[in-house]
Amino acid sequence: MVVKNMLEKAVSILKQGGLVAMPTETVYGLAADAKNAEALKKIFHAKGRPADHPLIVHLSDISQLNEWVTDIPTAALQLAEAFWPGPLTLIMRKRPEVLDIVTGGQETIGIRIPKHPVAQALLKAFGSGVAAPSANRFGRISPTTAAAVHEELGDRVDLILDGGQSEVGVESTIVDVSGTEIRILRPGMISSAQIEAVLHQHLSSQKKDIPRVSGSLESHYAPVTKVILIDTAKMTVYLRSLSQENFPVAVMHRQEVSADSKGIFYYKMPMNACDYAHDLYQTLRDLDKKNFKQIIIENVPTSSEWDAIRDRLQRAAN
Ligand code: TXA
Ligand code: MG
Repeated sequence: MVVKNMLEKAVSILKQGGLVAMPTETVYGLAADAKNAEALKKIFHAKGRPADHPLIVHLSDISQLNEWVTDIPTAALQLAEAFWPGPLTLIMRKRPEVLDIVTGGQETIGIRIPKHPVAQALLKAFGSGVAAPSANRFGRISPTTAAAVHEELGDRVDLILDGGQSEVGVESTIVDVSGTEIRILRPGMISSAQIEAVLHQHLSSQKKDIPRVSGSLESHYAPVTKVILIDTAKMTVYLRSLSQENFPVAVMHRQEVSADSKGIFYYKMPMNACDYAHDLYQTLRDLDKKNFKQIIIENVPTSSEWDAIRDRLQRAAN
């Protein structure tokens, strides 16, 4: 657990322009003072992230919003009321003084108020916005534990706050409310159906060519091991088609599969979407260390509660 003097140390590192790994309920973030350009540069360096990819600014509560955005649309207020603090990022029009390095030079800024008690305590004690991308190297799996942050970044981060395993397990839902048309830029565990229910409107489906959302690069969230996605109905046939030189393989499945071989190792995944999301990145991370020739993943349902998981699986398999 994070004790008080660790929090004080984290605040002082942030104030001095250093980097702190911050647990959140989605994934761990790599945090820096969002008003300190030199500190923000360190984030890009530590992650190996391209400089024009914008960062999400994390706040402790909605009263700080006016410091960062010029105008708060009604839809933003409705979504904030329903889902903040929580796994939701809102894209809004930024105030002119917000640093270009935060927004990638865009006129908009991503804001999130996380729910995790350690993130809340850190943000309250720091008293201002903290920019934090996921605490992984660029293109790799986001960390959901302090140990995973250490594997990803080692001593590139000044302090890792251990807040246990992230409850949600995949990154926040990103909703762009800055324009006339509200769009979901990245699916998360707050589903499009939940967002539509709050806004009382149907959102047009995600466009493929949304610029500058690093999570939208096709190969992202990827293990080193080759990942293959297979529909449930084809799984047994696919596994039976494998031969000795393809082994060993790991199979992440939800339904029962009937193909037995010494080279096939089964990992049963949860039936329910929340539990699946919670386990997903840690399972991929563990399997990636075991020298499998392939990680074979059974595709998940097409309903909206599985959108974020389907999205991350497709990227992992790219
Ligand atoms: O759950 C999360 O959102 C985690 C935790 C740490 O809060 N953070 C996270 O950050 O996933 P990151 O940087 O890995 O992904 C943030 C995404 C990126 O794809 C980025 O391009 C997009 O948000 N983004 C940030 N500001 C944006 C903006 N103004 N317009 C469009 N996309 C933006
Ligand atoms: Mg990320």
